[in-house]
Amino acid sequence: MAIPRAFSSLSLTLLLVVAPLCTMADYVLYPGGALGPGRSLINGNYTLVMQTDCNLVLYNVCEAIWSSNTNGQATNCFLTFATNGNLVILNPDGNALWSNNQSGGQGNHVLVLHDDGNAVVYGRGRWDSGTNLPSSRFPPADQTTNEAEAAGVAMVINK
Ligand SMILES: *[C@@H]1O[C@H](CO)[C@@H](O)[C@H](O)[C@H]1NC(C)=O
Ligand SMILES: *[C@@H]1O[C@H](CO)[C@@H](O)[C@H](O)[C@H]1NC(C)=O
Repeated sequence: MAIPRAFSSLSLTLLLVVAPLCTMADYVLYPGGALGPGRSLINGNYTLVMQTDCNLVLYNVCEAIWSSNTNGQATNCFLTFATNGNLVILNPDGNALWSNNQSGGQGNHVLVLHDDGNAVVYGRGRWDSGTNLPSSRFPPADQTTNEAEAAGVAMVINK
């Protein structure tokens, strides 16, 4: 009896957690996800794009305000987001060109491009691009998962 009940409440939980992903905002990247060549996160005036020249660049409209400085090292790279919270730029051969070096271990993580210009990894691995406006209303990178959720960002388990 206990097993079916646990299973059904787990299913419900998964449904509630997974359902929003179908309409996932394009300013959020979850662990296990990636930005392929030319793909981007967009929020308001800000775009974080994995350029085909392998530079990961954060733009305020047309002005670059942050980059990984990896342009020209290869072409058609991927920004990968590992389940340990590490952001890694991989060339097509699978070699790392850049990493945020911020793995906090396996756990819940999410990368959010906020509309104030800050790109933030929440979770056990914490990182941000340092490009937020001074009056940012969003929690900084060193805040907890609960605070990320308070900012309207759902964490996903084992995603
Ligand atoms: C984008 O920038 C313009 C010009 O600075 C500003 O007026 C506008 O409010 C910004 N949009 C958002 C969504 O922040
Ligand atoms: C990550 O670590 C590597 C190796 O120590 C270093 O070369 C690189 O600059 C670091 N990346 C960042 C974004 O600090």
